[in-house]
Amino acid sequence: MDKNFFITTPIYYPSGKPHMGHAYSSIVSDVIARFKRLDRYNVEFLTGTDEHGLKIQRAAEEKGLDPKKFCDELSKTFRDLSKTLNLSNTDFIRTTEDRHIKSVQNLWKILENKNQIYLSKYSGWYSVSDEAFYSDNEIKEENGINISSISGSKVEWVEEESYFFKLSEWENKLLKFYEENPKFILPDTRRNEVLSFVKGGLKDLSVSRKSFSWGIKVPSNKDHVIYVWLDALTNYISALNYPDTKNNKYKNYWPADLHMIGKDILRFHAVYWPAFLLAADLPPPKRVYGHGWILSGDEKMSKSKGNILDPLEIVDKYGLDSLRFYLLKEVSFGNDGSITQEKLESCINSDLANNYGNLCQRVISFNEKNYNLLVPDNINFEKEDLKLLNKVSDNINTLRSYIDNQELSIYSNFIIDCLFEANKYFNDQEPWKKKSDVVRLNTIVYVSLEIIRKVSILLNPIIPDTSLKVLDIFNLKQKDINFDTIKDNKFLKPNSNIKKIGILFKKIDKND
Ligand code: MSP
Repeated sequence: MDKNFFITTPIYYPSGKPHMGHAYSSIVSDVIARFKRLDRYNVEFLTGTDEHGLKIQRAAEEKGLDPKKFCDELSKTFRDLSKTLNLSNTDFIRTTEDRHIKSVQNLWKILENKNQIYLSKYSGWYSVSDEAFYSDNEIKEENGINISSISGSKVEWVEEESYFFKLSEWENKLLKFYEENPKFILPDTRRNEVLSFVKGGLKDLSVSRKSFSWGIKVPSNKDHVIYVWLDALTNYISALNYPDTKNNKYKNYWPADLHMIGKDILRFHAVYWPAFLLAADLPPPKRVYGHGWILSGDEKMSKSKGNILDPLEIVDKYGLDSLRFYLLKEVSFGNDGSITQEKLESCINSDLANNYGNLCQRVISFNEKNYNLLVPDNINFEKEDLKLLNKVSDNINTLRSYIDNQELSIYSNFIIDCLFEANKYFNDQEPWKKKSDVVRLNTIVYVSLEIIRKVSILLNPIIPDTSLKVLDIFNLKQKDINFDTIKDNKFLKPNSNIKKIGILFKKIDKND
């Protein structure tokens, strides 16, 4: 039976250079995509750029560029970032592509035909930065400026002819949908936010703009462009060739298993998007996960504070896998988390260099001295050997469920625990004192190699490059590894050759 899995990142506004927040959404999605592939799923992993709307039009105007040309340049920086971050995405969508424009216009027509859209007039608040409409009770004044109390961004008053989507008709149907699908929105705190927003009453949603032109035209009225969120959300199905719902991509991958997003865009994904889909008789996605924010120190990143973290700088200075590991292990997934140089360096030193790196180094050099780089033969597992190996083998389904419930911190901590236990095992067993007991010595070295193999497979979704460097000791390449093999306590063939290994992570000395 084919196991398929479809995961998406938000599509990013190419209004400026990518920052750490974008990198975060993409990296955590990549970890899940890679895990599912290891577990032998066919994984479709989508990311891309969200290129229409007033925010982009204004950003292009500031640079004196035509918006398409502006997006061509900046979208490329996001595409390049995907490579730098070693994302395993299978597609990269731009909302200015034909495949997407057709798809959005089709969805619009369906909504129109189903009598879900009508023409009227919008007067109310709009935030260009969020591309969002806010009601009066979501606005407050700060230093003489009107801002959204939800996001803190500046709002402006808009009055213009607009098409509306009959969102109010979907209030009860959405509540029923949330009730029937209790894990549609995770984590629970976000689910509760959405429930109280919807229970507070839904008003019809303005879904077109007339006062600017940078967007997809309403098919029946070229004076209007389609609201950028209706446009953007549709990327998740236009990448699957919607409106062709008979094609294999759509059939295999829709509904999406997981939209990974930041908590700031929950309302669009967990309220508007399922309402649009249900109104068009299409199934909503299976899950929307709203992760927390990455703070720069203790503060929100912002241009005005000048504290924007650039993922490229961090990758250049510390290496990609250090950053990926840090984000997974140090940010409690679902909550906000921060990056500081001190925390990053201490994580590299303690978890990567001392814990993982050191385990690999000492076991391989011990093997080299005593076994000439061969996997020992003639082994006999005792209780403490099995205790260590089974910590992984017995927890296969638990580990799967961590990933399937997006409990990424628990997954990472499990690995750290295994590494501690493996180092402790090697210390406690004192193989250097067991030279007279050959079977015992063989076994300790074999078990240590096995646990390195297992843990490296578990680490593969998080730090793919480093884990492959380690797995190469055993001549294992990405194509040779899969999740099931961590069940096996005797995977390594006795007397097979292993390779030496260089330094995986250099310890950072404050005085360097
Ligand atoms: N274009 C919309 C998304 C459309 S999806 C159909 C958008 N783009 S964005 O570029 O502004 O931000 C996208 C995502 O980047 C956020 O939802 C969030 O996932 C991530 N982040 C942006 N800043 C962030 C942090 N400081 N921390 C963590 N992630 C944040 O919204």
